[in-house]
Amino acid sequence: MELSITDSAPHLSIGPFQGITDVFYRKLFKKHFGGIDKYYTPFFTGFVTFSRGKLIDAEIDPLLNDVETTVPQILSKDAKEILHFSEQCKLLGYNEINWNLGCPYPRVANKKRGSGLLSHPDEIQSILNQLQGNLITELSIKCRLGYLAVDEMNDLLPVFNGYPLSELIVHARIGKQLYKGAVYEADFGQLIGKTNAKLVYNGDVFSTESYRHFDATFLEIKHWMLGRGLLANPFLATEIKGQCVISEVQKAEIVKQFVQEMFEIRLQNAKGNLSCIGRMKELWSYLVWSFDSPIDAWRLVRKARNIEEYESAVNEIFSTLAWKGSGFISDRSW
Ligand SMILES: Cc1cc2nc3c(=O)[nH]c(=O)nc-3n(C[C@H](O)[C@H](O)[C@H](O)COP(=O)(O)O)c2cc1C
Repeated sequence: MELSITDSAPHLSIGPFQGITDVFYRKLFKKHFGGIDKYYTPFFTGFVTFSRGKLIDAEIDPLLNDVETTVPQILSKDAKEILHFSEQCKLLGYNEINWNLGCPYPRVANKKRGSGLLSHPDEIQSILNQLQGNLITELSIKCRLGYLAVDEMNDLLPVFNGYPLSELIVHARIGKQLYKGAVYEADFGQLIGKTNAKLVYNGDVFSTESYRHFDATFLEIKHWMLGRGLLANPFLATEIKGQCVISEVQKAEIVKQFVQEMFEIRLQNAKGNLSCIGRMKELWSYLVWSFDSPIDAWRLVRKARNIEEYESAVNEIFSTLAWKGSGFISDRSW
């Protein structure tokens, strides 16, 4: 019998993307697309106070975020810092913080932060010991299956299970893979039923087809974190939930509105500094996958150097290319 995706009402969250899914992205995403049950901020790091600048303030400002569905994330290996972050978040109305044990970049991981800490379960244990009984918000963890090898999870599981985590989100790769190569499906499958915390799957849910595949593979999993697939096709969540009934032409119109508003707000926020074109290009590096010719879309937007060139590239994309919404493809060769 074919699985119906509307029967099971999956719980969908949007994974954090440093430099892309900031407060403005999340706000405009909600306005134009929806389908997402929970949002995570990109990670805070070197956190001391909230007076570190306007954007950081905006990132968790309760006036700009829905505190019920937004989870602030921290990248840290310092229990005191995590406690302080949790206290500040609680004051602003947040009930949960997320600890990033997944960041794979060598400059982070080599300092035993992010996924680099996964090879040191004793240090994770020590941090969790200091948090237990003292943390005033709930704690969830986003991690990988390990840093150097998937069998690191054997030692990590008892550590994670010793703390009352609100959820354990696992990106089914190891840190050393960065974002490349296949996800370890079987190794993720081994975790099912063994975690005390609610287990959330993350990795390569790039289209409704791939969602169906993972849903059929991990029958017990009801919580999913979407990443690059959602950046490429922002309708992916409503499509997975069977709630998206508009045509491809209408979708293109909405995406156009979304990128225009995003550019306006970024330009305003950057006080005219053209760095915001670079930020738009980061988003476009994913969005191009949803057009019938991603190569042409990328060529157009990549070469834009100023506001006029950028706006004309965007207009040309929408007037010459068709929206397909096919989702992200990881092994691009250009
Ligand atoms: C450019 C970039 C920035 C990211 N920033 C964060 C981050 O701040 N925090 C985090 O937990 N994950 C971060 N991620 C990881 C994603 O949230 C997600 O876990 C990853 O892309 C795997 O999911 P996917 O295969 O569905 O894309 C980032 C990934 C990329 C490519």
